[in-house]
Amino acid sequence: MIVENQVPLQAYNSFGIVARALHLARVRDEADVGALMAGSAWPVLTREAPPFVLGGGSNLVITGDVRALVLKVEIAGRRLVEETARGWVVEAGAGENWHGFVRWTLEQGWPGLENLALIPGTVGASPVQNIGAYGVELQDRFHSLDAIDLQTGQRFTLDAAQCGFGYRDSVFKHAPSDARGMGLAGRALITRVRFWLPRPWKPVLGYADLERKTAETGIHAPDARKIFDWICAIRSAKLPDPAVIGNAGSFFKNPTVSPEQCADIIARDPKVVHYPMADGSIKLAAGWLIDACGWKGRGVGNAGVYERQALVLVNRGGATGGEVMTLAKAIQTSVYERFGILLEPEPVVV
Ligand code: EPU
Repeated sequence: MIVENQVPLQAYNSFGIVARALHLARVRDEADVGALMAGSAWPVLTREAPPFVLGGGSNLVITGDVRALVLKVEIAGRRLVEETARGWVVEAGAGENWHGFVRWTLEQGWPGLENLALIPGTVGASPVQNIGAYGVELQDRFHSLDAIDLQTGQRFTLDAAQCGFGYRDSVFKHAPSDARGMGLAGRALITRVRFWLPRPWKPVLGYADLERKTAETGIHAPDARKIFDWICAIRSAKLPDPAVIGNAGSFFKNPTVSPEQCADIIARDPKVVHYPMADGSIKLAAGWLIDACGWKGRGVGNAGVYERQALVLVNRGGATGGEVMTLAKAIQTSVYERFGILLEPEPVVV
C-alpha cells in the first residue's frame, strides 16, 4: 500500500482550493485499508490526528495543507443485490460518482433516485450529510452501508436507524465525543452503500420548481427519466457547475425557527420565504435571508456569493479557504444582526 507525500488537493475538492495533503493513500478496496492499518507507517501517520476520509470533496472547505493522513476513497462497483415484487436493492462502491450512479440505476430500469440527480460528490459521501433535493432525502432510499472502523480495522454494517440521519446530518458528521456519544467522524470509512428503491415507483413532484415544469410542459405523469431531465435542467439553471466555478453547493443549512419567531420576522419582512414543518416548527430559506441582506454578487477577496443563488459561495479563481470562511462569517454576522438567526455552515472545514 503506497502512501503518497505532498499531494496537491485542488482537483480533489469542488471549491478548487489550492492545498496539499502531506500524506495521502488511495483506497480501492477493503483489503487496502487492512494493509494500510497493518503497516508500520500507520501508527506514525495517525499519532497526532485521526485519518481524514476524502470522497468527492464536494462538501469541503480546505483552510491549509492537510496534516492528517488523507484516505482518498476510490472503491468502484455497482450491482443489483436483490429484486423482489416490493422493490430493488442496489449497491455501489463508495468511490463511485453519485450522478453517474443515479443515471445508471435509471438506465437499468430501477427508478427512485431521480430527484437526487446532478448532486456533486461520491456515493460514499451521500449518507454522511444525508444529501437531499426536491423532496427526496437519501434516508428515504437508504438500505444499509458497509464501513471499516479505522481504530480496530473491523468491518461493520449499519442500517438507516444506526446512521442517525437528520437534515444534512448523520453519525458520520459527529465526533465520538459528541453529547450523543455515538459519533463516527474520523472513525468510520464507508466502503459500500446499498439503496432501497420501492415498487411500485411513485413520482415525487411536490416541489414548486417541479410543479412549474409540469405546468410548462403539460406533462402531468412524467416517468423517472423525465424527472431526472427536469432536475438536471433546474439545477443547471440556478447552481454553478463545480467544474466551471468552484463551490460546495449550499453553504448553509436552512434554519428552523418557532412559529412565534417566524411571526416576528414576517411582521418586519413580510416576504420571508418559509415552510411549515410536520413537527410544528418553521423552516426558513437561508438563501432568501442572505439575499435580503444584500450579499448576492458580493464577496471577500476571491470568494464570492453566487449571483443566481445566495446560498452558494463560489471560488472566483484562486480563493483560499480562509477567504471562504471569512466571507461565511461576515454573512453569518449580517443575517444574525438583521434576523437574530445564526446560520449553520453545511460543509466540513479542515
Ligand atoms: N431564494 C432567494 N434568493 C436566493 C436564493 C433563494 O430569494 O438567493 C429563495 C428562492 O426564491 C426560494 C427559496 O429561497 O423561494 C428556496 O430556494 P431553493 O428552492 O433554491 O432551495 P434552497 O432551500 O435554497 C435547498 C437545498 C438544496 C436543494 C434545494 C432543492 C439546503 C441547504 N439546500 O436549497 O441543496 O438542491 O433545496 O431541494 O437544504 C445542497 O445541499 O448543496 C443543495 C444544493
